[in-house]
Amino acid sequence: MKAIMLGFGLSVFLASTVTHADSQEKKPNDWLLGAKSDTERFESLQTYLRGFDQPMWEVGERFRAIHEALGRSNFELAAYHWEKIRVTIKNGYLKRPARRANSDAILLNATWGDVNEAFGSKNAEQAWAGFEKAKTACMACHAAESVPFMNNQALFDLSKPD
Ligand code: HEC
Repeated sequence: MKAIMLGFGLSVFLASTVTHADSQEKKPNDWLLGAKSDTERFESLQTYLRGFDQPMWEVGERFRAIHEALGRSNFELAAYHWEKIRVTIKNGYLKRPARRANSDAILLNATWGDVNEAFGSKNAEQAWAGFEKAKTACMACHAAESVPFMNNQALFDLSKPD
């Protein structure tokens, strides 16, 4: 009997919390839940998810990580970041379709595969040659996309250590 009473009490409690959650008042931090419509929600998400700059930031960090990985002869790690760079650039042009043509033509269509093979060879000379090839493509796209000033930063000074 006690157990039944307890069970009953518990279900009343659960029911009241569910009802409370449904009619929950929106808090100031509910920037999505509190929006008036899905359109407003998507607008907020679209703004929050930025444009091409944030994916490029990630690409830059991963490119630096590739340099570090090659320095330790960790070719698998280099290939891992190279794969993520491809995903990240594609996600970038999902948001900014105007960047697609040069991304594909300059990096993804042919160069990406060559560099991937170079890392896959697990041969230091070939892998470093792949790194240089990748770097040249990154810089060519920055010139083609009218942001040549991007190339004047320490990231693009990285190369095979002496
Ligand atoms: C579409 C051609 C294209 C390719 C390919 C490309 N980039 Fe970029 N990158 C851009 C553009 C455009 C910007 C400026 C983005 C903006 O203004 O929103 C940029 C910006 C950057 C930035 C600055 C990001 C920031 O806001 O801090 C870095 C770092 C960068 N790229 C690194 C790279 C590296 C490394 C590669 C090669 C693995 C590469 N990019 C390949 C077009 C490209």
